[in-house]
Amino acid sequence: MPDSQARSRAVRAVIPAAGLATRFLPATKAVPKELLPVVDRPVLQYIVEEAAAAGISDVLLITGRGKTGMVDHFDRQPYLESRLEAKGDLERLAAVKHTSELAEIYTCRQGEPLGLGHAISYAESHVGQEPFAVLLGDEFVDTDEPLLPAMLELQARTGGIVLAFLEVDWAETSRYGIASVEKAEAPLAAGVAGTAGLGDVFRVTGLVEKPPAEKAPSNLAVVGRYVLPTEIFDAIRRIKPGAGDEIQLTDAMALLLAEGVPVHGIVYRGMRYDTGQPLGYLQAVVQLATKRPDLGPAFTDWLINYVTNDLGGTPTTD
Ligand code: UTP
Repeated sequence: MPDSQARSRAVRAVIPAAGLATRFLPATKAVPKELLPVVDRPVLQYIVEEAAAAGISDVLLITGRGKTGMVDHFDRQPYLESRLEAKGDLERLAAVKHTSELAEIYTCRQGEPLGLGHAISYAESHVGQEPFAVLLGDEFVDTDEPLLPAMLELQARTGGIVLAFLEVDWAETSRYGIASVEKAEAPLAAGVAGTAGLGDVFRVTGLVEKPPAEKAPSNLAVVGRYVLPTEIFDAIRRIKPGAGDEIQLTDAMALLLAEGVPVHGIVYRGMRYDTGQPLGYLQAVVQLATKRPDLGPAFTDWLINYVTNDLGGTPTTD
């Protein structure tokens, strides 16, 4: 694929959120994990805010059975708004309206959760001929250390697939998709270079699903942000069910890589919140609560007191 400055930057995002969320059962039996609250807003709102902050105003939510509440969260609520207005509660009124002003939200349903690749295939008619971003519905990054703008810029320049990497402990490679990489010829462009939290850019030469440390080609784990060209849809059609008997996005990306589509990854060293399982979710709640200007000071005091006096631990600072 020839390099070109003329390619357009992705303007749409797809959020696959139709999975069964088994790691969070029984909470997720009736409530989607994407709607679990982190301080005062659902996880999904943080993700749509991340997309909106990167200039994406068109978001397609892939939902499934029992997940209609996700779309309702971004809808207007005229009755609630008029009650808040009548009470003069302008702060909460603004917060309620804000969710419906973030982006144009579209939705479609994945009839059966047959895998991430299968979920993304539902986006084909919506995204048309343009590259698009994929943001998994259970993780997000700190607003002060954005990742998506650099990924969008790199994809517009390379025309291929752009991934994001976390440098994980070698003992943890077996929990992630791991990339083999070489030095990239496409460093970050002015405008996004120097953004807090961003590390090196690598060219990807291979992808391995959940390798043990001794077989892992690197400790660069693929996290839940992708910018994809439209060729991915045809690749998804051409692959067979893989790990877990699911249609895997990783397999479709590996097929395109083998066919010469450029694949790059940006190392992310900023704060990432993984709310797809209880421990990561609890960490996200505590970290974001302590950062809040309104709740943070009182919550942090309570937390230090709880850890020191009730748990008998010695808090450390870093
Ligand atoms: P996960 O691997 O986290 O699966 O999917 P899951 O079902 O959500 O959760 P666990 O592993 O059972 O606890 C990654 C993302 O892909 C979406 C999920 O909703 C999540 O955002 N997904 C996964 C789909 O939309 N459809 C699928 O068929 C599978």
